[in-house]
Amino acid sequence: MKTLTLTRPDDWHLHVRNNAILKAVLPHTAKQFARAIIMPNLKPPVTTVEQALAYREEILHAIPNGESFTPLMTLYLTAATPLSEIKKAAESAHVYAFKLYPAGATTNSDAGVADIKAIYPLLAELEKQDIPLLIHGEVTREDCDIFDREREFVDTSLTQITTNFPGLRIVLEHLTTSEAVDFVQASGKNIAATITPQHLLYNRNALLAGGIRPHYYCLPILKRERHRLALVAAATSGNPKFFLGTDSAPHLTSLKETTCGCAGCFSAHAAIELYAEAFEQADALDKLEGFASFYGADFYRLPRNTSTITLNRTSWTVPLSYGDSETPITPLKAGEELSWKLQ
Ligand code: DOR
Ligand code: ZN
Repeated sequence: MKTLTLTRPDDWHLHVRNNAILKAVLPHTAKQFARAIIMPNLKPPVTTVEQALAYREEILHAIPNGESFTPLMTLYLTAATPLSEIKKAAESAHVYAFKLYPAGATTNSDAGVADIKAIYPLLAELEKQDIPLLIHGEVTREDCDIFDREREFVDTSLTQITTNFPGLRIVLEHLTTSEAVDFVQASGKNIAATITPQHLLYNRNALLAGGIRPHYYCLPILKRERHRLALVAAATSGNPKFFLGTDSAPHLTSLKETTCGCAGCFSAHAAIELYAEAFEQADALDKLEGFASFYGADFYRLPRNTSTITLNRTSWTVPLSYGDSETPITPLKAGEELSWKLQ
């Protein structure tokens, strides 16, 4: 196959930050995706509709001329979120979901939720208003091994949430384990999941074998090969519960290559190409369009896109760095070859 034409995809999990980094990274997303769910973990977090609308304006200003791209805004759920903010969000034309970060789970999650039971009234309101809850599914207990944090979250908090709020629409974000895949598969239609390119392409050896490679460090952390295989099987199964969410999470190179580096892989520079690589390896390129362009829109009850993108089967080398001298960002697969290229 020499070319691959797909309905224009959407990214259902994206970090674009703000200020100079926003300007450096957004064009990469806008050239391939029609829409993206924008994560609210800024400093300070985006907790109100008013803040989300201001952030949306900032994003709109960073879209290069000639590109059409729609940011779909989310609010950061905290124990202090008033019920009235959920009602406001339900009425807003631009807010599509709330994001639940367990406190301390990842980048800028200090304002997250320490005790999930304490936010049950908020979850009840989300269920009532039919607003999706997007979950970073990891427990944060210090005595829980980092490789077990997702599985334990699924067994405890997530099971409690889905039992108590059976009608709540949930996206379990960036799946990394076979147990999470099994949970989503066994749940009702209202439970879906995103999968990142790095979790389809790599296991934890990429991060830790033969030297520490900080650009493969993200959260939830890469797991062992058996889990990667379960994720590939889910993504390429044609099951509409699994869809594309890059979790592209840019950090300055200097903040990744240091004694205590930040979590996050920047993948927006080649997102659809990275997924094409993973689907081709699984001999499932015919399943890419559903995963990338249909199932997420269906879950969010938005129209599918009508325009297309085309990828050419031509090898190219990923640059070592993106951004300018003030904002150098090392991309996933820096300096390596990719076999598909966006036309
Ligand atoms: O690796 C990650 N980076 N995981 C997250 O959940 C957050 C993200 C970020 O914002 O940097
Ligand atoms: Zn994320």
